[in-house]
Amino acid sequence: MFAEDFHIGAAVNPRTIKTQEQLLIHHFNSITAENEMKFESLHPLEDIYRFGAADELVIFARENHLQMRGHTLVWHNQTSHWLFQDGKGGAADRELLLARLKSHINTVVGRYKNDIYAWDVVNEAVADEGEELLRPSKWLELCGPDFIAKAFEFAHEADPQALLFYNDYNESNPLKRDKIFTLLKSLLDQGVPVHGVGLQAHWNLYDPSLDEIRSAIEKYASLGLTLQLTELDMSLFRFDDRRTDLTKPPAELLELQAERYAAVFKLLREYKEVISAVTFWGAADDYTWLDHFPVHGRKNWPFLFDEQHRPKAAYNRLLQGTLQGGKGDE
Ligand code: GLA
Repeated sequence: MFAEDFHIGAAVNPRTIKTQEQLLIHHFNSITAENEMKFESLHPLEDIYRFGAADELVIFARENHLQMRGHTLVWHNQTSHWLFQDGKGGAADRELLLARLKSHINTVVGRYKNDIYAWDVVNEAVADEGEELLRPSKWLELCGPDFIAKAFEFAHEADPQALLFYNDYNESNPLKRDKIFTLLKSLLDQGVPVHGVGLQAHWNLYDPSLDEIRSAIEKYASLGLTLQLTELDMSLFRFDDRRTDLTKPPAELLELQAERYAAVFKLLREYKEVISAVTFWGAADDYTWLDHFPVHGRKNWPFLFDEQHRPKAAYNRLLQGTLQGGKGDE
């Protein structure tokens, strides 16, 4: 449906490339490793890299002619503790931390040079609330704010062909959007090799509004960057809805989800000149991190395919829109 517009991706892991194999091969042309390329997965100890699981995903992409995005090099979560320590009971200093970062990026980006076309170089560095631009983190504390620029420089050296992304969530919220914009603008003004912005797009039926999404797209695109939705899912629930009693999705919510997906993809198509990929954070409702977050045990149904991998109302609505000439749900 979207082959003419942008790549359609899914986050996968070594289990889902088996349980969802046919679905992935048939409906998607790009994948992202859900956890397997994060720092702590690849590099648990200073002298030890574990590439097994990541390699499996890379081979799956290669064999099935799928594009692959790399995720992620610098983040405040899922990062090994040794990285921030000096090995003598103290904290690593800036020089040591940057030397380790460079070596990690060289090794990882270098290894997957021929398979990965785009990297989320820095993930979630911007603060959600308040006046501060950057969130407090070990990176900021031990290195100072230029850990971001350094990461992009190291990644560019390791693979000059790769498209380098800054990736974040709440990306359509006006306050956070403006901060992300400020960060990106300052990186570009300093000549830092950043090429794209990743809008995670962990959305729900109600938020963010279409106007907010549109304004975010226009604002980021005004920097001349390419945009990708990198972790799209459409939760049936508001973020703080505590209900855990549902074992199947209510028909009226699936209908709202179909309308919402149609409206969102209609908007994304309008911006296909600046949006180069839309990746879902999963593929079908049998496996989603949203079953455990933010409410543990609240089953969710965020995707276009159901638990048996059959197309949902949302999928059919997108198909209808496509057959009518890309006009979405009109
Ligand atoms: C963030 C990260 C992803 C993933 C999701 C939740 O958005 O970027 O790697 O951990 O949270 O699964």
